[in-house]
Amino acid sequence: MKANNTMNQLPLDNKMDALSALLKRRGYIFQGSLIYGGLAGTYDYGPYGSLLRENLKRLWWHHFVYSRDDMYALDASILMNPSVWVASGHVGGFSDPLVEDLKTHKRYRADHLLEEAGIDGAGKSSEEMNAILREKNIKSPDGNPLGDVRDFNMMFETKVGAAEDTSLVTYLRPETAQGIFVNFKNIVDTFHPKLPFGIGQVGKAFRNEITPRDFIFRLREMEQMEVEYFVREDEWEKHFEEWRRVMWDWIDLIGLSRDSVSEHEIDSADLAHYSKRTIDFEFAYPFGVKELYGLAYRTNYDLSKHSEHSGVKLEYFDESTKERFIPHVIEPSLGLDRTMLAVFLDAYTVDTLNDESREYLNLSWNVAPVKVAVFPLLKNKPELVEKARDVFTTLRKDIAEIRFDDNGNIGKRYRRQDEIGTPFCVTVDFDTLDDDSVTVRERNSGKQIRVPISELSSHLLSSR
Ligand code: GAP
Repeated sequence: MKANNTMNQLPLDNKMDALSALLKRRGYIFQGSLIYGGLAGTYDYGPYGSLLRENLKRLWWHHFVYSRDDMYALDASILMNPSVWVASGHVGGFSDPLVEDLKTHKRYRADHLLEEAGIDGAGKSSEEMNAILREKNIKSPDGNPLGDVRDFNMMFETKVGAAEDTSLVTYLRPETAQGIFVNFKNIVDTFHPKLPFGIGQVGKAFRNEITPRDFIFRLREMEQMEVEYFVREDEWEKHFEEWRRVMWDWIDLIGLSRDSVSEHEIDSADLAHYSKRTIDFEFAYPFGVKELYGLAYRTNYDLSKHSEHSGVKLEYFDESTKERFIPHVIEPSLGLDRTMLAVFLDAYTVDTLNDESREYLNLSWNVAPVKVAVFPLLKNKPELVEKARDVFTTLRKDIAEIRFDDNGNIGKRYRRQDEIGTPFCVTVDFDTLDDDSVTVRERNSGKQIRVPISELSSHLLSSR
């Protein structure tokens, strides 16, 4: 159940502020380390935020992994041998162009400054960006001169081992993908899968972004949901198209409107070093149309590099043709935090109900952290509270994600549940004591109907 809404149009700059205020107010997202003044690029997910996250992860695992016979799950370490990051090219080249305001010493991404000046910085080297900044006399956002553009490696360094002098420098993983590549041989040796097959993983990744911004869009600590799908080279296009469809189906599954999402074919000059083709799935955020997900044909770059650097052959042996080769890879890569932001932005709605303005989250049943809230009409009437508790306990056997709410008057409870995005509220009133029926209110329309308690769970499950 996710109605098309026409009322979700606040002025765009206000929409992010209004949404982030609602998400804080309702216990979805808090600034990280807030009591110490925060830490840029980090957010903490509160009770409803973490439940919604779990729902998205569960849906992802089912859609991308468990519903298929050709997929294997993995949960690799965040800390890996530093050679992994040398081989993958991250030590040498996982950098963003950094430029400093010479007066305030604030740091910026040079490509963002170019973008703000209406110049496309994609695919340009630091030297090229430097030359454009000088030629166009571009200043910092505070109007001060800028230093030279330099490459800034985005990996967070850390040390492994107790003794300072013998410690091994390694990195927090900047993508989950490499954990999959280094486990390719483990999966082949233990499961003997037939090509094509894939490995899926969900987990945290860390990037020391120069300018984390736009709420949970650009974070320093984020979570990725990635698949590396191993194929024969001559079949990559077929599988690329197949995963493209799977990604669009995912967009439907989580209740995102297809109108908010578009594909952007990356120019060959702007492709990452490992990719021969990439499509970005972009979302129309209030701050611009920007990347939501990526679908990349990574060739056999990563397995080849890891073979070369580790000295371990990462090959596939085809029993039927007796061929031995390094498989090629299609990678659908999804950021969980960006998924949440897109889901919230798409769901955030302002309308007028019963002559009162209200905000609500038009979340689909699939992702909503609370599916149903059960209320006694009055909290000081023990017979109503007891009956409502009975209804709640019975309903919870069929629908796990439900809440009991007796705080404040009924109008306030409806507004609260609307903001949480709860699709249905069930109220136990005095009539319930006589007719064993309850009032079911639907979030978007505010429409209320009477439903016998004996039919309540089937009614809710069939209306979702
Ligand atoms: N393994 C490929 C890879 O990591 P990417 O385009 O750098 O490719 C994949 O990242 C996805 O991870 C992005 O499409 C986005 O959803 C998410 N992502 C990347 N950087 C992010 C950041 N700083 N904050 C939040 N999400 C991010």
